[in-house]
Amino acid sequence: MVATTEELLELHGRIRECTACPLHVTRTQAVPGYGPVTARIMAVGEAPGETEDREGKPFVGAAGQLLTRLLESVGLDRRDIYISNIIKCRPPGNRDPEQSEVESCSHFLDEQVAMLQPDVILVLGRHALARILPGAGSISRLHGQRVRRDTRTYVPLYHPAAALYNAGLLETLEADMQRVRGYLADAEARRATAAAPAAAAAAVTEAPRDQLDLF
Ligand code: URA
Repeated sequence: MVATTEELLELHGRIRECTACPLHVTRTQAVPGYGPVTARIMAVGEAPGETEDREGKPFVGAAGQLLTRLLESVGLDRRDIYISNIIKCRPPGNRDPEQSEVESCSHFLDEQVAMLQPDVILVLGRHALARILPGAGSISRLHGQRVRRDTRTYVPLYHPAAALYNAGLLETLEADMQRVRGYLADAEARRATAAAPAAAAAAVTEAPRDQLDLF
């Protein structure tokens, strides 16, 4: 079952207090994630950058603005999406995350996925790909493709930051996003099909899900 907003906020609180790896010493603040617990789509990047470290929210710098524009290009409002990262604290100078940092942090991402149970996860960049779909292949091979695992759809995409200063990559990312539109429609249809018999059998009234936006 999808978690409640309170449960997700409790997890965000634990992330903010985490001191499990040395990044807690150099961070301004941890960046747990942002979006409603009811989101059916999750986007996962690498790690907070300078702006995210300052503001405490993921993808709010230049790469985030590009991500917002890409989502909008396929009719998605980022306020409906839960956005997070593999690691929750900024590596100094935006260096690549170290394996030990990924290992000590990414159980938080596992908890977020378990809480939201999203239908679709947009996997942004090679670091997210290596953690979320280990051994599946490289980002240059898998970008824009749909990878199904159990009931979930994963879509590896080039990281928006990589496309900021590379026109060719940006074109590829924009084209891949157009394919995401079709994947989302399929995922939505599958969910509706799966839900229909259960709903008919149970015919119970569910309590409305909490739609609160998270801070
Ligand atoms: N890049 C990321 O991978 N994550 C952010 O939150 C911002 C930039």
